Amino acid sequence: MSPSLKYGLSAASLVLSLGVASCTPDPNSPGVEYAPEMYESIPYEPLRQIRFNTINSFGINERTPAAGTVPRGKLAYFDHIPKDSVGIAERTLHNPYAYTKENVLEGQALFTRYCQHCHGEKGDGQGPVGMKFKGVPNYSAGAYKTMNDGHIYHVIEWGRNRMMPHGSQVNPEERWKIAMYVHVLQINNDPADLPKVVKVAAPADVTSASTGEASAMTDPTNQKPEGKANANSHSETPGQGTKGRNGSMN
Ligand code: HEC
Repeated sequence: MSPSLKYGLSAASLVLSLGVASCTPDPNSPGVEYAPEMYESIPYEPLRQIRFNTINSFGINERTPAAGTVPRGKLAYFDHIPKDSVGIAERTLHNPYAYTKENVLEGQALFTRYCQHCHGEKGDGQGPVGMKFKGVPNYSAGAYKTMNDGHIYHVIEWGRNRMMPHGSQVNPEERWKIAMYVHVLQINNDPADLPKVVKVAAPADVTSASTGEASAMTDPTNQKPEGKANANSHSETPGQGTKGRNGSMN
């Protein structure tokens, strides 16, 4: 037998025996798979699972979505807020900050950053996004003209109807200061009305050292609901009121 024939035959028999070994009587068995990692991926695949997962709960690769997850395309408007919660906020939340020029200007800067693209520079709903988004109200029209601090604070934190909550973007102190600036726009849709809301000189002129008391810097007529700010609330965080969480519905 020539060497080439000999090697040829043994190669053929090797291929044949491999082929036979890869066949099993079970019609559902794929037999021996070449490079099985191509079919059964080593990283977890959420929608296909070969082995029991020893790490994840319930032994499955796919994890339960985190609480509050919204499926793609299922983003609903915020219509789950109880009807009376804004009313409760109006009555119970009080702005603990003084209407100083500094605070209102800070509110203006925050408003420009977080609200103006929808509500417009003048609060008339004519911001570039507002014009496309539709339904953005005019702060100086109808009932919007009389929204008080607690009302605005609640809307910022929790959103309302078509407006999404902004509580994760602005902290309680910032919400109160934005509410102050919204009052400026409520008067006449005019940022130039700022001095009408600021009833005191800039804090630099009237220091707590010169008056002896910070609240003396504010005009009581402008501070009606705010006058009670934090009274007996023993709140550690300004703006947190008597409740653990501002704007909560109970
Ligand atoms: C994506 C656009 C958008 C942004 C950003 C936005 N708003 Fe609104 N806002 C709306 C719309 C739309 C409404 C009308 C909601 C409705 O009644 O359907 C609204 C309503 C309001 C109202 C009136 C709520 C009521 O009682 O009817 C207030 C107050 C308000 N927004 C304040 C703010 C403040 C303050 C900010 C910034 C922190 C802000 N909004 C950011 C779109 C927006």
